[in-house]
Amino acid sequence: MQYQSEARKLAQTLHLPFLTHKTREYDLQLCYLENYIELFSSELNSAIHIDFCAGKLAHRHQYGGGRGQAIARAAGLKQGKSPTVLDATAGLAADAFILATLGCPVTMLERSPILTTLINDAIDRAQHEKSLGKVFQRGFCVHNIDAFDYMQQLPEKNRPDVIYLDPMYPERKKSARVKKAMQILQQLHSSDDNAETLLATSLHKARKRVVVKRPVHAPAIANNKPSTSIKTKKTRFDIYVIEKL
Ligand SMILES: C[S@@+](CC[C@H](N)C(=O)[O-])C[C@H]1O[C@@H](n2cnc3c(N)ncnc32)[C@H](O)[C@@H]1O
Repeated sequence: MQYQSEARKLAQTLHLPFLTHKTREYDLQLCYLENYIELFSSELNSAIHIDFCAGKLAHRHQYGGGRGQAIARAAGLKQGKSPTVLDATAGLAADAFILATLGCPVTMLERSPILTTLINDAIDRAQHEKSLGKVFQRGFCVHNIDAFDYMQQLPEKNRPDVIYLDPMYPERKKSARVKKAMQILQQLHSSDDNAETLLATSLHKARKRVVVKRPVHAPAIANNKPSTSIKTKKTRFDIYVIEKL
């Protein structure tokens, strides 16, 4: 609820309509329907909102394969460790949420004010959910800032163990195989042109490792060879080890 008025103000600043119903009049609009905020694309006839308590994310929280799943192994959670994680490219907060539910204190950074508002709206609703109490006790929050600026100002004592990067990848932009949610993200910004700078800065700021999520056949960022990689059918996690966890 708290973020409804913020979303309204944000919509005004961005010259986006803020509606309580969907229309086809605008390409992109922020809507407040039922009890959550969503971003609706009339071109794609699809909307995104974030929900940590229901749907895909909640299902993955309950049945997602725990610390054995690829993202958890990539972040170094296997031997009972719960490193602090800075997710520098939060997006829809799905990856950050998985790491948070598996025990990591997670700080997210997102440069899009719209996505930050969607994440904050979801956090606001999830804070009352009993099963997520520990997630918020350990720390799960988002800052609307460019990750490069944040990392430049990061005090030594706040350096995270792990920096996680998932920059938008331009390939297959128009393909039907690209999920609708990702297509809406691509309407917000076509591709993340700063992946090289982000990786270089992250390698200086992470204490233990940097993890980069890539499509399985994509080249490593800046052709910078990782220490090791973990692959799934569609995704590869490139791991740059700085120090043993
Ligand atoms: C592919 S999405 C991340 C998806 C995310 N891993 C998830 O699970 O939902 C990439 C996001 O990174 C954000 N981003 C890219 N460069 C950034 C930067 N320098 N600082 C902060 N956010 C950035 C984009 O705005 C976009 O929302």
